[in-house]
Amino acid sequence: MPERKNAMIRVRDLTRTYQMGEFEVQALRGVSFDIRRGEFVAIMGPSGSGKSTLMNLIGCLDTATSGDYLLDGLPIEALDPALLAAIRNRKIGFVFQQFHLLPRATALQNVALPLAYRGGLTRDEREERAATALQRVGLADRMGHRPSELSGGQQQRVAIARALVNGPALLLADEPTGALDSRTGEEIMALFGELNADGMTVVVVTHEAGVARQAHRLLELRDGLLVRDAPIGAARRTAGSLAGAVARRRRLPVRTAWRRAV
Ligand SMILES: Nc1ncnc2c1ncn2[C@@H]1O[C@H](COP(=O)(O)OP(=O)(O)O)[C@@H](O)[C@H]1O
Ligand SMILES: [Mg+2]
Repeated sequence: MPERKNAMIRVRDLTRTYQMGEFEVQALRGVSFDIRRGEFVAIMGPSGSGKSTLMNLIGCLDTATSGDYLLDGLPIEALDPALLAAIRNRKIGFVFQQFHLLPRATALQNVALPLAYRGGLTRDEREERAATALQRVGLADRMGHRPSELSGGQQQRVAIARALVNGPALLLADEPTGALDSRTGEEIMALFGELNADGMTVVVVTHEAGVARQAHRLLELRDGLLVRDAPIGAARRTAGSLAGAVARRRRLPVRTAWRRAV
């Protein structure tokens, strides 16, 4: 089935319970969805609804209490930690709200760092790849700057370049615009949009509707449950105009055609 083949992320009945002394916190209470290769998905929901918990599971930084997670068809819970770390390093790029850059290292050194963990590349090759990643995020002229010499938006771009440098297929960002003013946040989201247009699968957590609108699909969490899964932004407009075209052709009410189109 093509759908199965295209599902990069397949999550079924995923739960995550944190043990806090004698109390249990059910951060995720049974979440199921697929994300196909090439999608641009926003995850929204109030604080404490389980967004970061879900991202950590998708990103293989944590494992579920129960349920299944297939990443590119691989059952993540069944893999041993060394293999999991290798998959994470190669397939997944992470961006966080706080940029987590090394303060004394230059932009180029910060971006080259994940390549050193991977091994197998000379210093020149690492720096060349890091420079390419920095060019990709529009920082070709800031490679020698340290984080304190860069604006918040520029620091987040360095963090994005670092996430890209291993050539991941999946980019995960947990509130990447949370520490930025709204205009800079929009620029960062536009960059994610460009990377998605280049073929990257992008999943972004945000609590700002304006930020989420740039994605193509919205997953909404509430109290550890998925309460909405809907097209947004460009996808919604495409579906909307498609529905209009179908309605005109078939003389259906747009509403019915919309349901069929999406
Ligand atoms: N490491 C942890 N230990 C205990 N409880 C946690 C831990 N991480 C998150 N939680 C709890 O799980 C719930 C979901 O948290 P989180 O996934 O961080 O939500 P969000 O990112 O949507 O704000 C919250 O009630 C939070 O307090
Ligand atoms: Mg969070």
